[in-house]
Amino acid sequence: MAESFQPDRLAADKAGRYRDLAAEIAAVLEGEPDLTARMATVSSMLRAAFEHFYWVGFYVVDRMRTDELVVGPYQGTLGCLRIAFSRGVCGAAARERRTVVVEDVDAFPGHIACDSRSRSEIVVPVLGPDGALLAVLDVDAETAGAFDAVDAEGLETILRATFAH
Ligand code: SME
Repeated sequence: MAESFQPDRLAADKAGRYRDLAAEIAAVLEGEPDLTARMATVSSMLRAAFEHFYWVGFYVVDRMRTDELVVGPYQGTLGCLRIAFSRGVCGAAARERRTVVVEDVDAFPGHIACDSRSRSEIVVPVLGPDGALLAVLDVDAETAGAFDAVDAEGLETILRATFAH
């Protein structure tokens, strides 16, 4: 199934690309309940679909310390292992349960630079079927202003379809 995924066949425009990708992800993950497998697959397919996604992956709510995120499946350079809810863009998205778009990481107070090459990022909360926060998805780019409302909508739709049902 995954072998048939051909990113170059996705739509060229961004909104269409997210739409096509959502369908591909749903097809690959059909019948697979394991959360790690689902997160790993989403990370890999997002990275393959969007070349400017320099780092893409999940920070998962820690089971023991529920005010802390711990790194989950990701694609990219070495990520920080743990992020408290009180810190960084990931912490803000987890705390406020809303998507945070940062056009310039230097202008975001408390931004955590796991990799100094990251210039902009988007972090989207991941909710489970019961509405509880499971994780956040973090995507970083090497250029400023790489993410906008189309990315927010596209990623939120994929995450809802993948984790909230
Ligand atoms: N920049 C994020 C930390 C995670 S990484 O960049 C992979 C933040 O401020 O929460």
